[in-house]
Amino acid sequence: MLKLDGLMVSNKLRESLSENIEKWSQASGRRPGLTVILVGNDPASEVYVSHKHKACQKVGIQSEVIKLAHDTQMEQLKQTIETLNLDKQVDGILVQLPLPSHLNEREALETINPKKDPDALTIENIGLFFGGEGRVKSCTPNGVMEILKYYDIPLSGKKAVVIGRSKIVGLPMFNLLQQANCTVTLCHSRTADLKEHTLEADIVVVAAGKPEFLGKDDFKKGAVIIDVGIHRKQVDGKNKLVGDVRYDELEGWASAATPVPKGVGPMTITMLLKNTFDLARDQG
Ligand code: GUN
Repeated sequence: MLKLDGLMVSNKLRESLSENIEKWSQASGRRPGLTVILVGNDPASEVYVSHKHKACQKVGIQSEVIKLAHDTQMEQLKQTIETLNLDKQVDGILVQLPLPSHLNEREALETINPKKDPDALTIENIGLFFGGEGRVKSCTPNGVMEILKYYDIPLSGKKAVVIGRSKIVGLPMFNLLQQANCTVTLCHSRTADLKEHTLEADIVVVAAGKPEFLGKDDFKKGAVIIDVGIHRKQVDGKNKLVGDVRYDELEGWASAATPVPKGVGPMTITMLLKNTFDLARDQG
């Protein structure tokens, strides 16, 4: 079984991105800028945001993190975003999700200028993306497509199953795979017989959000398995990261699969860096 090494692909892409950012910055006299807004102190979000910040610095993107208190009100959050909309040094604004439950996520996202939305989460960017004309593509699904491209996995005419229908992963993944000429089935928590679908698939993208949910018996022999899940698990008193798929079972069965960690995870941030740079170039 071929291990689809997302960390390696990610490192290669970041290297070339870093060179391109350097050249662009020399020519334009400024660096691309990303500002992340983190409301509250969800520990997982704090870790993600810190990874994003460090990754930006490594490739030459100016990065700022604005931390707002858990009890921040909508008006203050919107004002913070509006100030960034007007700041010429800021090319990308990312509101880390989930927001505390008293805040309206859609209203916050719609305050972001769509030309500064590297997550492709504003309604305008979702519309453009689904029409195939997006200025940027959703980060995690685009990261999956880059892994498939790097390993020359054939897509045209193949049967793909996506498990999960979130706005951040499942739905945009469906879109990119159909644009790549796959025949795509979108499954979710209410799918009547999931296995009936996965057993038919040449490619399965699992974003179910359930630790070690699927294994060898759920897949056709020779299938390509992409695992978007990431969960913490205690094994012998130690913290271990696991995906939605029992990776160890796939050896000798799947033709290729992404591990967890070091599979899809690093690609999400790489695509965020790429999108921020693309938006900076568009703004000049
Ligand atoms: N929270 C978890 N993943 C993401 C992401 O890709 N973007 C944003 N804005 N929040 C997230």
